[in-house]
Formats: sequence, structure tokens, C-alpha cells
Amino acid sequence: MERRILIITGSHRKTGNTALLAGWVADGARDYGAQVDLVDAAHLKYKSNGCTSCYGCQDSAEYRCIIKDEASDIIASMPEYDAVVFATPVYFFSLSAQIKLIMDRMYSLFKFKNNKFKNNLDKTNFAVIASAAGDMGSGLEMTGAIIQKLAGFIGKKHKSLLIPNAPMDPVRTATDLEIKEKAMDFGAELSQW
Ligand SMILES: Cc1cc2nc3c(=O)[nH]c(=O)nc-3n(C[C@H](O)[C@H](O)[C@H](O)COP(=O)(O)O)c2cc1C
Repeated sequence: MERRILIITGSHRKTGNTALLAGWVADGARDYGAQVDLVDAAHLKYKSNGCTSCYGCQDSAEYRCIIKDEASDIIASMPEYDAVVFATPVYFFSLSAQIKLIMDRMYSLFKFKNNKFKNNLDKTNFAVIASAAGDMGSGLEMTGAIIQKLAGFIGKKHKSLLIPNAPMDPVRTATDLEIKEKAMDFGAELSQW
């Protein structure tokens, strides 16, 4: 069956490492028959700069952030996908703020009550694509661990594509065939997940 994959990129650099990697992963997945949607979280129209902690989603019967903007539509669509993939540069040892803006509002896909919770992510697994100027210890491992934690929290699978020592100049990344192959292979893996 055709797998549906949502890749959310979180870098302002439209032709940077994150965009390159996400594009190659998408190509690799499409080569194996997956249907891939790419969303650029850095250039969506937001009505709020993150979760406002209003808890409106908890009072609502719907699994949807009650702040209606482009991000709420994308977050509400996540349960339709077999895999949601966060593509991010490492910023100060973690995910970029642009990805965190989306992640925090994923609270709306959960209903928390009496120390228990349910969610509507029945079929969705999670993955991360991250690049860093430094080595694995410069934030890549922690970035991978955040997505591992998210997936584990709801009993789902996770996968990581972590690229250390990524060239600061993406023009150099664009011609790095080793990184390209890794990313395309990762996309192929996601298509079979
Ligand atoms: C604000 C900022 C913070 C960064 N923090 C880190 C860091 O903590 N560790 C690291 O190895 N690289 C860090 N970098 C480098 C980026 O993670 C790296 O160059 C990445 O590949 C850029 O992706 P992009 O081209 O999609 O923006 C940082 C870059 C910026 C702009």
C-alpha cells in the first residue's frame, strides 16, 4: 500500500542543508512509491508564535489546535500520514524554533485527563532529519533523542537521519554525493516503514 509521508522543514534557508536533505529524502521515498508532502514551517502564516497554553484543544471534542492558521491545518492532518518527519538544523544543541513551534501545538492531538491521555495518532510514526556544523555531540544526538522520546511517549516507531560536519555553505552540500545517497536511502526506508 502507498505510504503517506509528511516532511516538515524548519530552516529559514530555503536552499540550505535542511531543504536539500528533505528534498533528497522525499525523492528517495517517491522512487519507492511513497506519496510525500513537504511543508516549510519557517514560512507558514502563524497567528501565534507557538502554543499559547490556552488549553482550548483539551476542552474541544476535535483533535485540532483552536488557533486557526496554516500551522493548525497541517498539525490536524498529521494522523492521516504513516510518517511525520521533522527536518531541522541543529540550533544550540536542539531542534530549530521553527520546528518547535509546530511540535508544541501538537498538544492538540492529545487529550490529557486524570494523569492519562489519548491521542489520534493511530498509524503515525515519527522521524527526524537533522544536520549540524559540528560532530554528533554538538547537538545531533540530543535532537535525535527528542524525536525518539516523542515517538516512545505514544508507543510509536522512530527513525533518524543525522548528518554531522555538514558544510556551512549548502552549495558544497549539494555536490556531496555521499550525503545525497544517505538521504535517498533514508527516504527509501521511510517508504517501506
Ligand atoms: C542559530 C544557529 C545555531 C546553531 N547551533 C549549532 C549547534 O548547536 N551545533 C552545531 O553543530 N551546529 C549549529 N549550527 C549550524 C547548523 O546546524 C548547520 O549549519 C546546519 O546544517 C544548517 O542548516 P540550514 O542550512 O538548513 O540552515 C547553528 C547555526 C545557527 C544559524
